[in-house]
Amino acid sequence: MKIGTPKEVLDGEARVAMTPDSALQLQKLGHECAIEAGAGAKAGFLDAAYEAVGVKVIKTAAALWKASDVVAKVRIPTDTELKRLRDGQTLITFFNPGANDKQLKQAADKGATVVAMEMVPRISRAQKMDALSSMANIAGYRAVIEAGNNFGRFFTGQITAAGKVPPAKVLVVGAGVAGLAAIGTSTSLGAITYAFDVRPEVAEQVESMGAEFVYLDFKEEQEDGAGTGGYASVSSPEFREAQLAKFRELAPEMDIVITTALIPNREAPELWTEDMVKAMKPGSVIVDLAAEKGGNCKLTVPDEKIVTDNGVTIIGYTDFPSRMATQASMLYATNIRHMLTDLTPEKDGVVVHDMEDDVIRGATVTHAGAVTFPPPPPKVAAIAAQPKKAASKELTPVEKRANEVAAFKTQTRQQVTLLAVGGGLLLAVGLVAPASFMQHFIVFVLAVFIGFQVIWGVAHSLHTPLMAVTNAISSIIILGALMQIGSGSWLVLVLAALSVFMAGINIFGGFLVTRRMLAMFQKS
Ligand code: NAI
Repeated sequence: MKIGTPKEVLDGEARVAMTPDSALQLQKLGHECAIEAGAGAKAGFLDAAYEAVGVKVIKTAAALWKASDVVAKVRIPTDTELKRLRDGQTLITFFNPGANDKQLKQAADKGATVVAMEMVPRISRAQKMDALSSMANIAGYRAVIEAGNNFGRFFTGQITAAGKVPPAKVLVVGAGVAGLAAIGTSTSLGAITYAFDVRPEVAEQVESMGAEFVYLDFKEEQEDGAGTGGYASVSSPEFREAQLAKFRELAPEMDIVITTALIPNREAPELWTEDMVKAMKPGSVIVDLAAEKGGNCKLTVPDEKIVTDNGVTIIGYTDFPSRMATQASMLYATNIRHMLTDLTPEKDGVVVHDMEDDVIRGATVTHAGAVTFPPPPPKVAAIAAQPKKAASKELTPVEKRANEVAAFKTQTRQQVTLLAVGGGLLLAVGLVAPASFMQHFIVFVLAVFIGFQVIWGVAHSLHTPLMAVTNAISSIIILGALMQIGSGSWLVLVLAALSVFMAGINIFGGFLVTRRMLAMFQKS
């Protein structure tokens, strides 16, 4: 079949849904590829590059739509584009079906099949087609770069001859795909990064990326803001108040705030209020990635950058992925290519629309003359939808103390039992074993006991540095070599000197490596 990609018509949109690389892969599936002249130019893909891999360059959009069995594009189709759809044609694009009833009906009436890329279900098999994630990843990265571009200082702290520079403090609100990308970029640039999300399970991900998770002083049972499919649900008013109180406390300290908080099919929650903006230092920057859905910051103006009276820059751009058009096109075109791989099961250039397939069914919003949105829930649960942990109840100090005493008693009881059993066993062995054996055996048992007690208390993540330090300590054998070094025999002397040298490397090297490893776990 012929896969065609038109030039995006929306003002400022620089992405393209087909790249020369993705076209090559599509041809391997047995398809022919076509592109509208100049469609890839803004993303850095010239017509000649497409022609070089056998893609037909078609002069006008009208001719391209006419010639294509499958049209792959980026943005929601305009009225003119929808009018070009015809019976049996397939359109793969972002469609926002939840808010575009009229357009859905129009496409269905034309008899076209529309595959909406934002509807790809979030199951592990479909991750390679998950265009929402690939675009959110770019948006998160770009938000930090955009913030840096508008921030007058370094991200990382520096001590220079000209003075000491403190590191920037960055707060990321919402640690979904975009938020995590922003956290990764911000920490790698050296900023002290904080993050908050209503879904408590992301705290671990945030911390593993080197940022600090902001916990709330929430007196009730800690609310779990996780909804279905890995998305968030609406917070209770009490939780929201606690969240805003925390943000108010943080606002004067933060240099950069990146907000990404979204709840599916709703306006973005307002989380960064006017008084928080006023409390920020002049020169601070807010990047509101939720601008398209109304913004997380009260003062955000969608598609614009404004500077408030107190000198805070608020960026409300809604085209972050398009600002990195080459990267975004490469990832989006790959998502489309994977979708077409699933739609071409025999790799024979024939598109088979299997409505029994969870991913295809989920993403298809019109098919065979009917609107097929919303889809039924996928048979496979979203990988991100983890079982909720039982909420831990906040304990009173008296309850906490009682729990500690009970735990201590159980531990002591276990230890006494272990000692009694161990002592009894040693006695039993001593009755039959020779005295010389018992001497070594007792040393061995004590060594195992002490070693176990030492290692057991160390966190798993610190086991590697622990190995390095024990390696260094094991070089105590240097004592034996030192005692032999005064020997009259030259052979013993050479061997002893060699042992001292090698054990020395072990000791100094071991401590050096341990120091470096521990430094990796320490926050600057
Ligand atoms: P999103 O764009 O809908 O929301 C962004 C973030 O804002 C979410 O983490 C959400 O919890 C948070 N948020 C909502 N209300 C908030 C509030 N009041 N305060 C603070 N934060 C708030 O979500 P996104 O980034 O599209 O994905 C969410 C999750 O979905 C991911 O973290 C991941 O676990 C899961 N996912 C699963 C995939 C798969 O299974 N294939 C692919 C991509 C994501």
